[in-house]
Parts: sequence; structure tokens; C-alpha cells
Amino acid sequence: MTMTATTSRTTATGAAPTPFTDELPVPPVLRPQQNSQGTGVLRVHARASMVSLHRALPRTPVWAYEGQLPGPTIEVRRDAALRVHWINKLAGPLPIVAVTGPPGSQNEPGRSGASPKDLSGMPAWTAVHVHGAAVGADSDGWPENGVSPGDRSVYTYPNRQRATALWYHDHAMNLTAYQVYAGLAGMYLIRDDEEDALHLPSGRRELPLMLKDINLDQDGEGRFTGRLLHKTELGANEFFGPYTTVNGRIWPYARLRPTVYRLRLLNASNARTYRLVLLDDSGTPVTGAMSLIGTDGGLLGAPVAVPPEGLVLAPAERADVLLDLHAHAGQTLTVVNTAAAPYLGVPAATPPGVPDPAHRLPFPQVLQLRVAPGPAPEPQLPTVLSPTFRRLTHADLPHDHGHRLVMLVKSSKPLREMEPAPDGPGIVRVKGSDGTTAGFRVAAGTWADAATIHVVQDSWEIWRVLNLSGQMHPIHLHLVQFQILRREVYDASGFDPATGEADPPIQHVATLPVPPDEAGWKDTVRVNPNEMAVVAARFADHSGRYVYHCHLLEHEDAGMMRPFVVMPAGIPGMGGGHGH
Ligand code: C2O
Ligand code: CU
Ligand code: CU
Repeated sequence: MTMTATTSRTTATGAAPTPFTDELPVPPVLRPQQNSQGTGVLRVHARASMVSLHRALPRTPVWAYEGQLPGPTIEVRRDAALRVHWINKLAGPLPIVAVTGPPGSQNEPGRSGASPKDLSGMPAWTAVHVHGAAVGADSDGWPENGVSPGDRSVYTYPNRQRATALWYHDHAMNLTAYQVYAGLAGMYLIRDDEEDALHLPSGRRELPLMLKDINLDQDGEGRFTGRLLHKTELGANEFFGPYTTVNGRIWPYARLRPTVYRLRLLNASNARTYRLVLLDDSGTPVTGAMSLIGTDGGLLGAPVAVPPEGLVLAPAERADVLLDLHAHAGQTLTVVNTAAAPYLGVPAATPPGVPDPAHRLPFPQVLQLRVAPGPAPEPQLPTVLSPTFRRLTHADLPHDHGHRLVMLVKSSKPLREMEPAPDGPGIVRVKGSDGTTAGFRVAAGTWADAATIHVVQDSWEIWRVLNLSGQMHPIHLHLVQFQILRREVYDASGFDPATGEADPPIQHVATLPVPPDEAGWKDTVRVNPNEMAVVAARFADHSGRYVYHCHLLEHEDAGMMRPFVVMPAGIPGMGGGHGH
């Protein structure tokens, strides 16, 4: 029922592509060969190429790793170092059309009357970051260390971290949103013995699924040209597109058998958050078929049921999911998105599978699963996963851990590092969960400000990120995997964005437990409006200058990114974080 409604929906300027006509592709795997020193070596070329997003559309020019969208999946073993030559072979102007359309135009393809921005002066300048990697700073893809066509970065990844799904993507300063949108992203899987011992579904039963919303340009007659369209709306710079691609195809289908699959989900969208729900042929939610076995940083201790309201994935988040289809032989299931855009932490206003165009969800469908008929014995699903996974509590942290306070504010200083300050102008007063009130002032708030976060290498820190901006931001720290200790809800009515002051203080209202599906190792945390996310990480093994930022890519490019520095203890003049 609901699927028919979305299939037949047409836009003012042309019919939407028909869902479920293209089969889900699986990107090829790149496994490095060891050189004589035991280091794996790969060469990955970023190039311009043409791809098919949907069989009824003209081909689409992209910039993509090895010319493929997504890029090839890089697969490595834990502790086996990998050297990648990231070679920039790009040429020509960025192959996308960018416009700022009128309010309400993001659900529609085409330019909505807006004239395209002139991107012709932008260089094809790239920096590659492996998201989630514990890596030396000189191999992290510092946004300002880009390379031009013909040049390369040679980066080394020690892969000394738990088995998990990382991903690689462009990170060039102020160009990331457009260049990732143009196709520069792929997955990076780390395997280890602990994972092998679980005999999780593998080979054709393990599916990397890269989700990414797109929009499409049209010619003067309303015909699709095949070109990607980056359309934002006046007054808001985040990109939300009407069409969801999975592994580079718009609304594909997958032929599956009535058995267990392992889904390696990645939200590679610029700004759209997904809340994924599985529907049966009658449009009724299927519960109990999906269990979460891992988060950004690796396997959980035990599987966790995906909540009935859906699996939430903000940009850059990954989910490792077991999908049990044994009770669905011969059925056709549909994965749908039930999240409004922008995402405010609540489901869309319509039931799962029903479009919610008022909240930029004109097409909820994501992926169709065609399950073959046939005998389907009940599988043995693991009840125990990673024996080495440990849920952190504050008591597990050494006493000398540092503390940071970062505030997210809708302003020209969107990512504010705060330092304790007595009374005076520009003081934000915060009454915390312990009942005491403390004052803070802005120590840094734009990319150009000096680094204020100097972390002692191998130490633990607690970072508190308080969101006063009115919208959710997924905050990503490079170098580390952290655990979310808790979220706290604040009454921020005393905060005046114009002066940056808060009197009466911003007040703690409630402390929220961490939901089981966010209790694993993470490198990206959703910070909801009027909430403080409290995370703990150990800044181990590497040192140097890294970044942390909002992973809504348009926010990152608009200044919601800051450096932090990790250095060994004992360097004169370098303090740690402030204590309790
Ligand atoms: Cu996924 Cu700093 O990036
Ligand atoms: Cu943001
Ligand atoms: Cu503490």
C-alpha cells in the first residue's frame, strides 16, 4: 500500500525514478599484499568517472576512488600495517551542480529557479581521512594538507584496533561537503581473531551498505541530466536530497536467502540522519529480525535488539547488524527511513513507509529485500560477542583524567571551547548535575583560533559537549574511539546567543542513561538540542595535531571544526585538561 503511493508520486517537473529496479551492487574488495617488511601496500586513485545511479537515468559524472561509487572496500587484519598511496588523478571542475533553492524546494529535483553557484574556480584538491582510525597525525588527512592532481599522500595505518567498519573519505579544507557528495567515500574493514572466532556471516552473507541521499539536476524541460545536484535552502546550509542511494544505486533491491546476513551499515550522507525500520509486504513493521552486534568502534559484548522505533544512524555513524530472515522465506521486505530532516531525535510525523514531505522525507524507501522461498532452519545466533568488550564507567577512569567543555552554538563561533572563568562579561554560567554552578568563557570558537585542547598522550579525558544550537549535531573526534558515559538534559532558557552569556545559569534538568545501541565504542556521537553528551576516551599510542568536528559536512566546512593536540607528557609549557 504505502509503497505504491511513493512509487507513483511525481514531482512538478518530472517523474521520480522507479524504486527497486536496480540490483544492489557490492563494492569490490581491496586486500593489500604484504611487502618484504610485512607492510601491506595499496594504491588508490581518486578519479573522475561516469556511474549509473539508476537504470532509467543518464549516467552521472562523479569523483570517486578508483572511479567507483562507493570506492572499493579496503580490508585489513588487525595489527597488520597498511601503507596507502592516495593518488589524486582528478581533473576538470567538480562534477556537481550546486544551488541554494527557495525554502521548501529540497524535496524536488532540479534547480527550483535558482542559478547554479560558480564552482569553476575550485581546485581538485584532496585530503583523505580514514574515519575512526587510530593513526599518526601525519597520516590522518589533516584538512589543510591537501594534494593537487598528479600528487599523492602516502599514509600509514597501523590498524592496531578492534575489528570494525571504518570508512575513508575526502577531508579537504572547506571542500569536504562537495567532494564527498561528488563520490569520494568508501569502506575500510578491520578483521581480527576475536571476530573470526564468532563465525559471523561472511562472503555473500556479509553486505556493506553505504547509505547516502542525493538530488538530481534537470534540464530546462524537466528531464534528468544525470548530474548530481547539491541543493540547500535559503537560510539553512545542510544538504538533504529526496533520493536515497545504497552502494551508489537509488532504492535498489537485494536478492537474499532465508538465512542470517551481516549488514555493515554506514551513513555516508552529508547531513541526513536515518532511522531504519523493516516493513513486511503489507507495510507492517517487522520486529525482532535485526540485532545490533557492533557500533563505530567494534563489536559489543552481546547482541542488542534494534529498538522497534528503528535503528538511528547520523552521518558517519556505522552499525554492525545481524539480519535474520529465516522467518521470511518467500517474502519481500522493505527497509524504510522514518527520520525527519533535519533530525530532532523524534520519528517522522507519518507511520513507517508513509512519505512525510513536510519534513523532507518525500520518499521513505531505502532498500528492498527479496527473500527466496525455501526451507529455512532456525539459525543459531551468537549470544556472546566480544569477550574483551568492557562498558566504561566513570569509576574505571584513572583519577587524573582531564575534562573539556565544548558548546555548540548557532553563530559564527559554532564550536566553542570553554574555559573556567569567574564573573565578568561573556560568562556562561552552568548549574551542573552535581548542583554546583560554575562560570565559563569562550577560549576558542573558530578554525583560526589557536588550539586550546592539549591532551597528554596515553591519558584519559572526559569531553562534555553541550548543544545550545537548536539542532542535532553528530560530533566526531579523530584518533580515538570513545564511550558515551551519559547524556544530560539542560534548561538553556537563560542562554542569550547574542551575548553568549547565561544568567540565570543553564541548568541541569535530567540525566539520561545511554541506550544499549549506543553503549559500544563510538567515534561519532549525536548531540541533541539542549543536551550534553559526556564521552570518555583514551588518547593513546599517537601524538600530533588532529581535528574534531560536526559531521554534517556543510557545518564542518562552515567552521564547525577545531584542532586538538596530543603530546607526550613532560613537554614544557603544555598543560593538560582542567581537573575536577
Ligand atoms: Cu569522517 Cu573528520 O571525518
Ligand atoms: Cu553540525
Ligand atoms: Cu571526572
